[in-house]
Amino acid sequence: MAHLMKWTDAMSVGVETLDEDHRQLIHLINNLAYADADFAEVFNRLLDYITSHFEREEAHLEALGYPGIDSHRAQHDAFADRVGEMLRHYRESGFDTTDGQVSDFLWTWLKSHILIEDMKYAIWARARQAS
Ligand SMILES: [Fe+2]
Repeated sequence: MAHLMKWTDAMSVGVETLDEDHRQLIHLINNLAYADADFAEVFNRLLDYITSHFEREEAHLEALGYPGIDSHRAQHDAFADRVGEMLRHYRESGFDTTDGQVSDFLWTWLKSHILIEDMKYAIWARARQAS
């Protein structure tokens, strides 16, 4: 049984709209973990939200003039491609693994992306503000 994933203060990037996006993403991954018949629909909604969140976050990084934007964007693109691929695969042949393992994979990626990669721009922005 999948466990409930939670946003914590340690994940705050210091921008309320992006924190809200992250909370919504976590909510959707939780929904996916417990979805059954409507798995593809929930998965599709999650992929849409991932795409629009990445756009908002990248626009924010661009506005900031964040120097790490290219590699950050590359990580977003690689993940969005991977999730799109997973959704296509599910639609064609279902998953061999359980739905819980899919949401675990998504959660593991998102959590480490927020705590490591997103935190880099959060710390950079904070340091720039202070100087
Ligand atoms: Fe990001």
